[in-house]
Amino acid sequence: MRTDRTFTMLKPDAVEKGHIGAILEKINASGFRIVAMKLTHMTTQDAQAFYAVHSERPFYGELVEYMTRGPIVAAILEKENAVEDFRTLIGATNPADAAEGTIRKLYAASIGENAVHGSDSDENAAIEGAFHFAGREMF
Ligand code: PPS
Repeated sequence: MRTDRTFTMLKPDAVEKGHIGAILEKINASGFRIVAMKLTHMTTQDAQAFYAVHSERPFYGELVEYMTRGPIVAAILEKENAVEDFRTLIGATNPADAAEGTIRKLYAASIGENAVHGSDSDENAAIEGAFHFAGREMF
């Protein structure tokens, strides 16, 4: 176990439905410390770049449209084993497959609107955090 960081976004559907507070409470209660956070609205160019690794997948256009339709909450979270533990907390990509009590099971509507993002590796957590935050915005 080690102390490290992951990156998350509370996606437009979670913000639209008023779930920011409940999701942040769950994140805090699960032992994550918020070291950076903001409400922001990604441009199409931002979302295309953030999800560039998925550009050949059939849902890429839909994903970019969804992630730019309204504001998101971007945050960097710190905890021992942060990346893996956060992926466990949010549950499977498709909420229909997510375990009971996970954020996606509780708050996500579908695989296309799944409420929350969590980095899939330490390397991507650092890249994604730096995409949204300057060094002076991380505490
Ligand atoms: S993961 O978490 O990277 O292993 O999941 P993956 O299945 O590779 O999905 C990558 C991101 O694409 C989103 N996604 C979709 N969006 C729209 N429609 C469909 N069918 C779909 N399938 C996957 C998924 O929510 C992931 O977004 P992030 O923000 O990384 O969670």
